Amino acid sequence: MAEQLTALSIMQNAPVIPVIVLHDVDHAVSMAKALVGGGIRVLEVTLRTPQGLPSIEAIAKAVPEAIVGAGTVRSSADAKAAAAAGARFAVSPGYTHAVGQACRDLHLPLLPGVATSSEIMQAQEDGFNELKFFPAMQAGGINMLKAWQGPFGEVRFCPTGGITQANAAEFLALKNVVCVGGSWLVPTDTLERGDWERITLLAREAAALPRKAS
Ligand code: 3PG
Repeated sequence: MAEQLTALSIMQNAPVIPVIVLHDVDHAVSMAKALVGGGIRVLEVTLRTPQGLPSIEAIAKAVPEAIVGAGTVRSSADAKAAAAAGARFAVSPGYTHAVGQACRDLHLPLLPGVATSSEIMQAQEDGFNELKFFPAMQAGGINMLKAWQGPFGEVRFCPTGGITQANAAEFLALKNVVCVGGSWLVPTDTLERGDWERITLLAREAAALPRKAS
């Protein structure tokens, strides 16, 4: 039986959630195996290419050790399609009641994106306390997360956008950051070359990042 997941357990699984953009479904399974081989099991496959949904489906079927979710969920239709493809969680770049409600109805854990205090309040009003801070670097980075520790002390964040292996540790050292998201684990040229060893190496480095919050 599949393990029961929550937004928090997804965030706690590893220090980094890879944000994955696939242009070829044939890359999906090898890429997922490469990440899992490096210790990264939670995979966010974005719906920003037509290959996103079939890639989620392929990974869900062929790589049971992976916990594959859908990124770039922007509507209830996206959420439904993601769940139907086998996504175990959803990540949205922003937050709307419609996306929140659809994910609740589908029992799909959701990491909603926020970039302002008002958006945090909106998401909290609907019961979401584990949030993606997006786009993190562009919207205030570490200083913004520190400023939110006061009024939103109970909120836990997954900052995403502009984060790399080099600056991830600074974010992970904050008490309100459980994990970070980023596309650096799955570079496009590496996918195209089929360099799965490189992806495993990047995953291994990311999995070894220290973190403070839990
Ligand atoms: C996302 O799509 O969530 C972000 O664009 C990922 O940001 P990055 O490419 O800067 O890691």
